[in-house]
Amino acid sequence: MEIQKVGVVGLGTMGAGIAQLCVQAGLETVGRDVTLELAERARGRIDHFLGRAVEKGRMSAGEKEAAVGRLSLTTELAELAECDLVIEAAFEDLAVKHELFSTLDAVVAPDAILATNTSALSVTQIAASTSRPERVVGMHFFNPAPLMPLVEIVRAQRTDEAVVDAAYALAERLGKEPIRCNDTPGFVVNRILIPLLNDCVRVLDEAGVTVEDLDKAMRFGAGWPMGPATLVDLVGIDVHVHASEAIWEGLREPRMAPPPRLVAMQRAGLLGRKSGKGFFDYDAQ
Ligand code: 3HC
Repeated sequence: MEIQKVGVVGLGTMGAGIAQLCVQAGLETVGRDVTLELAERARGRIDHFLGRAVEKGRMSAGEKEAAVGRLSLTTELAELAECDLVIEAAFEDLAVKHELFSTLDAVVAPDAILATNTSALSVTQIAASTSRPERVVGMHFFNPAPLMPLVEIVRAQRTDEAVVDAAYALAERLGKEPIRCNDTPGFVVNRILIPLLNDCVRVLDEAGVTVEDLDKAMRFGAGWPMGPATLVDLVGIDVHVHASEAIWEGLREPRMAPPPRLVAMQRAGLLGRKSGKGFFDYDAQ
């Protein structure tokens, strides 16, 4: 199945990154968010990063303009009617996803594919709100989506193997390194990374180490590209806590549960890079 037009629902950090990849790969892309202001902010981010690529000589100014021109923005899900595949990257809440997927199901063509970028919710449960569970698949990108090569192609209980193949082929077309996996809590990477990051946060209190030294330890002792505190700040404390809770609910293993320190940060609005303050301070974005 040839994908020509893609929809991206939810244009936060992940959605904007995914939309950027789509337009860079030459795909007509419709981006949808609840307000045009949010959607325009995503276009601004894409414009900024492609502008940097032009400055660095990785792309010509004409290519950048053409890529940005392939993105259209809307607040109406009905405007995704022509899309062959829609990737949902909205808030991580099952009720929100159910509402979006049942509306999308009614809007797009019967053979269109509905994909979710969920980090830790069940793709099978999301698919159950549609009349086409065999055409629903997980496409889990990593943050920052334009830079991280992996995409997990998640096979839900009823996903058609041809749909898995189409999502895999799309990920390759976006320049990614996809893998196929089942719909288990956390899939592959988060099943391993989330408890590891939770352990890193617990060590902060147990070992009496500073946040700076924790990051130094994992960068210089384990070869991580960025330290765990910097990484959780990048992912978002709220996103991490939510993913931890979802995986904990699925597996009931204590290491999966979010450490109280992270829950307290979430409640205090210390959400990491996006809120200007998490483990570290950032310029307001
Ligand atoms: N979008 C597009 N381009 C971006 C970008 C973004 N969000 N962020 C940075 N760039 C561009 C920059 O403009 C920069 O180019 P410039 O210097 O010309 O401006 C270029 O990419 C390189 O940026 P950096 O110098 O910041 O790149 P680094 O070499 O330092 O690598 C990194 C950054 C790839 C993020 C690296 O630090 C890394 O691999 N960190 C680990 C990230 C990770 O583990 N992510 C997974 C998180 S878990 C997850 O996402 C799962 C979820 O479900 C919770």
